[in-house]
Amino acid sequence: MASLWGGRFEKEMDDIVKQFNASIGFDQRMYDDDIDGSIAHVTMLAEQGILTVEEKEQIVAGLEAIRTKIAAGEIVFTVEDEDIHMGIESRLIAEIGEVGKKLHTARSRNDQCQVDTRLYLKKELREVVHRLCYLESVILEKASQYAETIVPGFTHIQHAQPVTVGFIFMAYFQMFRRDIDRLEAAYERMNYCPLGSCALAGTTLPIDRHRTAELLGFAAPSENAMDSVSDRDYCLDFLSAAAISCMHLSRWAEEFVWWNSQEFSYIDIDDSYCTGSSIMPQKKNPDMAELLRGKAGRVYGDLMQLLTVMKGTPMAYNKDFQEDKEGLFDAVDTWKASITIFANMLEKTEFRVEQIARQFDKGFLNATDVAEHLVTKGIAFREAHSIVGRMVKACEHKACDFTDLSDEDLAAIDPRLSQDVLGDISMQACVEARKSFGGTAPAEVRRQIAVGTAWLQTVEEEWA
Ligand code: ARG
Repeated sequence: MASLWGGRFEKEMDDIVKQFNASIGFDQRMYDDDIDGSIAHVTMLAEQGILTVEEKEQIVAGLEAIRTKIAAGEIVFTVEDEDIHMGIESRLIAEIGEVGKKLHTARSRNDQCQVDTRLYLKKELREVVHRLCYLESVILEKASQYAETIVPGFTHIQHAQPVTVGFIFMAYFQMFRRDIDRLEAAYERMNYCPLGSCALAGTTLPIDRHRTAELLGFAAPSENAMDSVSDRDYCLDFLSAAAISCMHLSRWAEEFVWWNSQEFSYIDIDDSYCTGSSIMPQKKNPDMAELLRGKAGRVYGDLMQLLTVMKGTPMAYNKDFQEDKEGLFDAVDTWKASITIFANMLEKTEFRVEQIARQFDKGFLNATDVAEHLVTKGIAFREAHSIVGRMVKACEHKACDFTDLSDEDLAAIDPRLSQDVLGDISMQACVEARKSFGGTAPAEVRRQIAVGTAWLQTVEEEWA
């Protein structure tokens, strides 16, 4: 079969060249967008008097018929189609005859593939925002359920200070909030229509690019035709946001793996989100969490691939750019699935409050609280730090806690010390006292939840 561009060729492409050259295997997922773009294009061409209204109507009807057939699985694309753009155009010509040959007036596949990808990505970006919003809603719900549940907070995987489970949840809430912010910014930047840029330099025909931009729901046409056909920044924006967000998911997934271990036993992940071992009958493994860690690596790969493809490519279109899609599609699929899996797993995970409480007597979680308490008694923080350091040493010698030190033990460390001076240093008191803005006190976590809930509501409304 001769290609639509075959006029100047005397030989057909070699079979392996057809295979190597074709993008139809993956770009057919954008068939809807391709048809939407074509319909807007011919609508504008007719309004500009470049096509007659009659011609436009025939083309639109033909395209809609093809859309229905593709959706019904009645069209099987092959490498002969090369890509979705020619796959649809050649079928249109077969379907409606000569008039179909007017569709490609004043456009090129260089701008066409870009309008398709932007339309596709805008839809998928919206879907990602919806999924992140769902994840955020689960986080808010769980944060409120566990706003008072105390848990050791770590630095360097060492007991540091007591925090609440709700507080940890709200830390992750902020990460996903930034992911949504990044997507909003990416959306704004990608919302320009390249259609009508043609091969690289625009066209001599009297098209109206503002009109096609408007018909397709873009903010405006892209400003410069050469940039429009060569730009993949919007894909990289999306991929960067995906990579960062999957990194966030992988960090929390890592905590799930730890929390689920026998050593921690902080959580009980629902059976439906775990798998067993083919040899060890007792096993219940956190495979979803591990896969989420792994998927982040995969999405980084998608980002790196496109950054590397784009590096050093000259103006304007180069076939290298066809390599933009598979990684992008992979990131879309992987990110979407990762968010949903994580949100569901989170929703079904319960914290073992008693088991967590058994860890409180390890690692002097309240040491900073004692030091801060001494500050309120007029002792300089640096001195208080050193006094508590000596208290820790004394406790280590006696294998006991701060509260087990006698007044004599304390006075030997510093004459100003006594159990009375230490005050209430229970985990509960320590957590409740951390009321500084952004701190872990339940009241403060509830404030963060309220702010987060209000923000989420506006985002959900904006992206409804
Ligand atoms: N399938 C191509 C791509 O995705 C469409 C553009 C082809 N343009 C060209 N001049 N060969 O990049």
